[in-house]
Amino acid sequence: MANWDKIYKAFNKKDESWQDMNDGVVPCCFIEGISPLFVEFVSKTNFKDSYVFDIGCGKGQYLNYLASLGFKVDGIDFSETSVAMTKEVLGLKVGNIKQADMFNMKIIPNKYDLIISIRTINHGFKKDLQKLVNEIYTALMDGGKTFITIPDKKCLKTWRTFKEHKMLDKNTAIPLIGPEKDIPHSFYDKVELEKMFAKFSKLEMKKDESGQWIVISTK
Ligand SMILES: C[S@@+](CC[C@H](N)C(=O)[O-])C[C@H]1O[C@@H](n2cnc3c(N)ncnc32)[C@H](O)[C@@H]1O
Repeated sequence: MANWDKIYKAFNKKDESWQDMNDGVVPCCFIEGISPLFVEFVSKTNFKDSYVFDIGCGKGQYLNYLASLGFKVDGIDFSETSVAMTKEVLGLKVGNIKQADMFNMKIIPNKYDLIISIRTINHGFKKDLQKLVNEIYTALMDGGKTFITIPDKKCLKTWRTFKEHKMLDKNTAIPLIGPEKDIPHSFYDKVELEKMFAKFSKLEMKKDESGQWIVISTK
């Protein structure tokens, strides 16, 4: 399993261990700020309970933004350091933030009216992703929504991180340089994603500025 904790620890120290591992490639977990498309989505949507679960919460900036709007916030990340960073940024607004592997976890059924995952669920093999999408469906209350980003297969050609890579399967590859070196990443086309989210009642897909699909769907 990928050592995400090592990435966060090295970044926080910003010493030579970080210089050694980044090869000039800053991983996308350190992109600051909230996507304007996310801000627009939240402002246009009516939430019944305003209760969100974040898969791969990273440094906690998305949960912190939602907490500032009054959401109750839960989430998981594989890295203990990321979990600690999220708890720190949330302070008193913290909900249930835990270390977990998204491909081996259970989320409480029918609980959330929003499940988000930004730049995360493509970190693995395609065979595991359908199971996770089914788990997300179960965890949403009726009418609950997703905002999930997943890279299009064109990103494999355009992303700097994949300038040098090794294919493991069709549209699944590991980068050979940078902090996410050796971490499998999967890339998708629209038809594959439509199939994966077929259970959901409404599906809206658009691309963000980095070529990732944003999957907004409703249970
Ligand atoms: C590129 S970062 C994105 C973080 C955050 N969502 C953001 O947009 O800033 C990917 C995150 O996914 C987490 N992650 C990767 N594989 C995971 C897994 N199997 N289970 C849980 N979290 C995982 C990493 O630890 C990392 O925090």
